[in-house]
Amino acid sequence: MSVVAAADKAWQPHSPLKLYLRPMSRQSGIVSCALFVAAVMTFGQDRKPDDASGRVSFVSDVAPILAKKCVACHGPEKSKGHFRLDSFDWLMKGGESKSASIVPGEPGQSELNRRLSTQDEDDRMPQKDDPLPAAQIALIERWIKEGATFDGPDVRTPLVLLIPKAPHPDPPEVYRHAIGEMGIDLRRPLLLQVSRFDPWKDPLGVIRAYQLAKEKMPEIQLAMVGAMAGDDPQGWEILEKINEEAAKDSDLYVFTNMTGVGNMEVNAFQRSANVVLQKSIREGFGLVVAEAFWKAKAVVAGRAGGIPMQFPAGYEDYLVESAEDCAKRVLFLLENPNIAEAFGRAGQAKIRTEFLLPRLIRDELKLIKDVVG
Ligand code: HEC
Repeated sequence: MSVVAAADKAWQPHSPLKLYLRPMSRQSGIVSCALFVAAVMTFGQDRKPDDASGRVSFVSDVAPILAKKCVACHGPEKSKGHFRLDSFDWLMKGGESKSASIVPGEPGQSELNRRLSTQDEDDRMPQKDDPLPAAQIALIERWIKEGATFDGPDVRTPLVLLIPKAPHPDPPEVYRHAIGEMGIDLRRPLLLQVSRFDPWKDPLGVIRAYQLAKEKMPEIQLAMVGAMAGDDPQGWEILEKINEEAAKDSDLYVFTNMTGVGNMEVNAFQRSANVVLQKSIREGFGLVVAEAFWKAKAVVAGRAGGIPMQFPAGYEDYLVESAEDCAKRVLFLLENPNIAEAFGRAGQAKIRTEFLLPRLIRDELKLIKDVVG
């Protein structure tokens, strides 16, 4: 069965009951569903300006290109050439060359425009990458020519928060019920780790981090969701220890597939969590991290296996090694919801550009072109 067909098969939006009854082999289902939906959505994204005036819009046309192709090197973390463009006001300030990055009305005098279209590979932006498609370069040039105006609410808003959200249907109402019925208070902050109860996922370290954070912010709740395998005696031992902790703390919830938590609930938990944890000590790829980012959640995770490569550039500080560090990062995100939101959306953008089917197809086509051409 092809991947698309598999994803299609797994996608059963109108049968929550069926999802509910399915065992916890949910990852392939949820992610391939996401892949499928995203594949459909991503194709609609390279849009032409279409507002009534026919003018190029900074918010809908230019910002998405810059956010995707440039912010990693020209943002708050790295500002190569002393140039940032992660918000409109930074973009207009220019960098170390002292030539204006953008001169409204004058693409010919705008350094940024020159850097996009130059034939000199060492000079061209994005650095170490293919040039932008000609249509995108032309779009930016037209925007400069038309006066490089800003059509958003505030010039200091980070680009990732400015660009229109990808259309995403609201989660079905049953999701909210599912999680509310389990006793969790959705008005209070919720931390979540979804993983097997296995020492490499450090569940006891997660509880420790939660307890440390809770000392500072008593309203925090933690949900630990894991599947139990009949053939894993260690899992049962760990679950016992976790249950001991949970018995002492009414804000610590433990759910397993044995207590009726299946695909739908896991998705509902992920969508409702304020911060998702994946405090692994050892890890293969760690697909739950991609799942959480796809749902635009901020993630605090162990620096292990394939987890770091799923993190968006500039957010490496949220890769942690200790329970103390984990608690500190979690608190920071809970206290700064704007940063948490920007982080989640940067994560979502990363998954969209690097871990979905269209990228796979693009790579295949590139390979064919290289071989044939
Ligand atoms: C992989 C990192 C990387 C990416 C991605 C990248 N740049 Fe750069 N950029 C650099 C470096 C390094 C410099 C400084 C060296 C130089 O001037 O060539 C620079 C310099 C610049 C400058 C000159 C600033 C000045 O005044 O000196 C502009 C303008 C620029 N980049 C625009 C962009 C745009 C627009 C994009 C996205 C399409 C982009 N860059 C993507 C690394 C990057």
